[in-house]
Amino acid sequence: MIVLKTSSEIEQMKEACKIAAGALKAAGEAVEPGVSSAYIDKIARDYIVKHGAKPTFLGYNGYPAASCVSINDTVIHGIPSKSQIIKAGDIVSIDVGATFKGYVGDNAATFAAGEISPEAQRLCDTTRESLYEGIKMAVAGGRLGDIGSTIQRYCEERGFSVVREYTGHGVGKVMHEDPSVPNYGTPGRGVRLLPGMTIAIEPMINQGGAGIRQLPDGWTVKTRDGKLSAHFEHTIAISSNGPVILTMI
Ligand code: MF3
Ligand code: CO
Repeated sequence: MIVLKTSSEIEQMKEACKIAAGALKAAGEAVEPGVSSAYIDKIARDYIVKHGAKPTFLGYNGYPAASCVSINDTVIHGIPSKSQIIKAGDIVSIDVGATFKGYVGDNAATFAAGEISPEAQRLCDTTRESLYEGIKMAVAGGRLGDIGSTIQRYCEERGFSVVREYTGHGVGKVMHEDPSVPNYGTPGRGVRLLPGMTIAIEPMINQGGAGIRQLPDGWTVKTRDGKLSAHFEHTIAISSNGPVILTMI
């Protein structure tokens, strides 16, 4: 069931989203060679707590941290660890959610540690751009497939591939609401987009093949071929005036 939000509910949700966005920014600024992924997580977690919010991910299905830190060939759900040290040239995807006054904000971005290769840069740029192209299609009267197909075309035209097993999602009082928001699809198909829908759009884009595998820890998702992957996410609202990005500072 898709839960439509009133404009005052969306205003409330914006507060959670702003905290999530601030946590992501702070964590991203902490990315540099020599720091651990657990240190990045601590920055995100402290930011959320300092702003009176709760780290949405912590304890979610038993997840042990406030954020996911996914390096290089890790697509998503990398578990922060003190022994995992970021190196120059790494790309570091950080995903973080905050719950505040009963609403969830969810966002992610991929950051460079020191100098990265031109190919890694192109993957990150394309993934981020595809998110904004997808967001442009999040308009009332459109269809869910307009978003996914736009992201898919944008990335595939540039030689990259779209992960299929994980998708974006509705978001509101809980992190995962209907509908599921794939990063692939057919224009004009799928659920009709309506004012009041709040969704997280989150392309997970691979440098090589689309295949993934999950590690035995039950969380970490890596590319099957060991090539790089990038991930960007915003929580947005569909309004009669077009898409509103809620996870903006
Ligand atoms: N942004 C991710 C998602 O939409 C984060 C979930 S990680 C979890 O699913 F640990 F909280 F599950
Ligand atoms: Co999400």
